[in-house]
Amino acid sequence: LRQTVQNIVLASRPHGHITADNWRLTETAPEALQEGSVRVRVQYVSLDPAMRGWMNEGKSYLPPVQLGAPMRALALGCITETKAPGLSVGTYVTGGLGVRTEACVPAQEVAALVPGADVPLTHHLSVLGMPALTAYFGLFEVGQAKKGDTVVVSGAAGTVGLVVGQIAKARGCRVVGIAGGLQKCQHIENLGFDAAIDYKKEDVLQRLGDHCPTGIDVYFDNVGGDVLDAALAHLARNARVALCGAITQYNETSVRGPSNYLSLLINRARMQGFIVFDYMERYPEALEHLTAWLKAGKLKMQEHVMQGIENFPHAVTRMFEGKHIGKLLLKID
Ligand SMILES: NC(=O)c1ccc[n+]([C@@H]2O[C@H](COP(=O)([O-])OP(=O)(O)OC[C@H]3O[C@@H](n4cnc5c(N)ncnc54)[C@H](OP(=O)(O)O)[C@@H]3O)[C@@H](O)[C@H]2O)c1
Repeated sequence: LRQTVQNIVLASRPHGHITADNWRLTETAPEALQEGSVRVRVQYVSLDPAMRGWMNEGKSYLPPVQLGAPMRALALGCITETKAPGLSVGTYVTGGLGVRTEACVPAQEVAALVPGADVPLTHHLSVLGMPALTAYFGLFEVGQAKKGDTVVVSGAAGTVGLVVGQIAKARGCRVVGIAGGLQKCQHIENLGFDAAIDYKKEDVLQRLGDHCPTGIDVYFDNVGGDVLDAALAHLARNARVALCGAITQYNETSVRGPSNYLSLLINRARMQGFIVFDYMERYPEALEHLTAWLKAGKLKMQEHVMQGIENFPHAVTRMFEGKHIGKLLLKID
């Protein structure tokens, strides 16, 4: 048993951008393990844009993180003690373990990783984890993408965006990715995206017109803001807009909606928000496909791993600065 557990707790709620004083590093005594729960040594914490929303007070799809409580986070770790039948010591699990070195959680809140699967552990938080499941269900269920469709994805060099683009290609779609900077645009083109638009340098509205001459059939939106408006202006008839996220708006004190929404009416299009957890029962089906694409070399993911629980505040800042390509993780053990 550990002597102490280190936790990053929510010290205050941000107003706009996150600041260092929103977090506090604490040390607590290990919890007593309850019947039906497991003790997990947390090894990797996933940095996700959704964290910003979880810090806010008010109604959302999950309750807000309480002040003084460990920050909510998806993470991966190894069971060190068990009072749950079927989950043994040494098993690796993923789940909402939080930003802490050790977590005691009910068995039903973790997913055990299949022993012997020949993929790096960290892939279970990226290309075979929640962001990839989000890409899969957002693209094929909400977006109804099919062979021959023109798919546009924003945040294209982020975790979700990279998976969206690659699995859309694997299904025979034409894919245009929107990302910030030359390096990110080159990266997605090297992965097989048909075109890349650098929203920091190029006129997105005009470039979407150039690259999507017959219009956009599926727009997978990760960013909201001006890029969403530009995509709406180029919808094809019966287009589907999958509203996955709006990272440009998360740190704003008031959210700005799209002004080009009448394009939905003109084009008989629809825009639908979704939350990946609603597809939980179908995760095995998605993981089967994602694993097959990964093994066939059709799906690749870059991961950037930062070190040390005390660096969590830097990692969150880095995520919103978009300095990395692909998945950002924090190794804490
Ligand atoms: N609906 C769901 O169930 C669900 C589940 C998971 C994720 N999501 C959403 O999916 C989106 C992508 O998540 P992810 O896991 O792929 O995140 P990620 O790996 O952290 O990538 C996010 C990307 O967004 C871009 N970005 C960051 N700040 C930005 C800003 N202010 N303006 C424009 N772009 C910005 C960055 O790329 P650039 O350098 O190109 O700007 C970065 O690569 C987020 O909106 C997230 O909330 C939704």
